[in-house]
This record gives sequence, C-alpha cells and structure tokens, in this order.
Amino acid sequence: MRYRRGHIAPGSLVALKMPDRDRLHPLLAGRFSPRAFHPSEIDDATVDLLLEAARWAPSAGNSQPWGFFPVRPHETEYDRVVRHLAPSSATWALDASLLIVTLARRFLDDGVLPYSEFADYDLGQAVAHLTIQAQALDLATHQFRAFDLESLTKELDPNPGWTIMSIIAVGPPADPCPATTRNPLPHLRTAPWTAR
Ligand SMILES: Cc1cc2nc3c(=O)[nH]c(=O)nc-3n(C[C@H](O)[C@H](O)[C@H](O)COP(=O)(O)O)c2cc1C
Repeated sequence: MRYRRGHIAPGSLVALKMPDRDRLHPLLAGRFSPRAFHPSEIDDATVDLLLEAARWAPSAGNSQPWGFFPVRPHETEYDRVVRHLAPSSATWALDASLLIVTLARRFLDDGVLPYSEFADYDLGQAVAHLTIQAQALDLATHQFRAFDLESLTKELDPNPGWTIMSIIAVGPPADPCPATTRNPLPHLRTAPWTAR
C-alpha cells in the first residue's frame, strides 16, 4: 500500500506496536554481512547499477559528498586495493566479486575549509542505498574498515578534502545469516539520556 502523508491505514497502529524483524521489508530483514563469498563475476552493468543506487541518495543541500573506487579481481586496479587489506578482512574479502572503496568529501580543495559537515552522514546513507540495491540483486555486502588506511590513502591519492572511509565487499554470500543481535528498541529512544 502506498504511504500518504497523514493517512493511517487500518491495522497500521497495531503494526507499529509490534516491532518485529520479520515485519520489515525482506530486503532489510534479509541483509547481513557474510564472512564468506561465493567467487563469481559481477558485470559492468551491475557495478553501474549499484553506484546508481548510491547516486540517488539524499544529501545535505544535495552536496553529494561521496566518491567510490570499485575494483574487481580481473582488473589491474584490484591489486592496488587488496594489498592494503588487513589479514582479518583478507580471509573473506578476497572471495568477493567486487570491492568498493568509499570516500567522503569533508573539506574543500584547500583541505581546510569544510565542504559539508554532513559528509560522513551522507556517504553512509549512499552506502545504505547501495547495500539494499545489492540485496535486491541477491548480492550480499560486507562493509569493513580492516585495511591500512594510511597506505591505501597514499596508494589511491585522492584529491585534498577527500577521506577514504570504508571498503564494501560485494558478492553472492557463501554462509548463512549468523546469529546477530541489536540493542532493544526502547534503547534507541533513551540511550542519549540514560545514565553513563
Ligand atoms: C563502517 C563499518 C565498518 C565495519 N568494519 C568491519 C571490519 O573491519 N571487519 C568486519 O568483519 N566487519 C566490519 N563491519 C561489519 C559489521 O561488523 C556488521 O555490519 C555488524 O556486526 C552487524 O552485522 P550485520 O551487518 O550482519 O547485520 C563494519 C561495518 C560498518 C558499517
């Protein structure tokens, strides 16, 4: 059913009172970060589609402070990324079909004046869009920070003001969704104010 502002569908209040992972959209409920991938190939059109999903994410003032460096195992640029992975991520990320280095533009070209105070926030949202588009294509994603940030930054040498944030491994998952937990729902409302 289409959502309309101010419209409350019959039964939706009950739904709101019964938070439950199973009631989420399957693309959200089914997403998880696998620790193993089936080696397979992702074509150019799919890479473009994933980036297209990121492209249409909202951002503060439509500043779009994001950048992506996608590499696949058969590409010459692949080695420039994988040689900087930490051993903990290399064990599974090397089986991914695609690795995407994500970058946020925090500062203007002088590297000092802020470009957007929401750069990291907006990049995260663009990545969220990308992960759900991947899920819709039966591709799993595992974002990670387990790489040598300093050496990867030297290697890719982004323009001043750009910061490498994460890498996203993409591919068909080779392990089942692990048991994972989350903070209870009330915690989301109270955490910023509860005692330290
Ligand atoms: C910014 C970011 C950095 C992460 N870094 C790592 C990492 O270095 N190694 C790793 O195994 N997982 C990493 N993860 C994956 C998280 O551990 C994972 O998303 C979390 O445990 C929840 O599990 P789920 O994605 O399966 O729901 C990272 C996730 C995000 C969003």
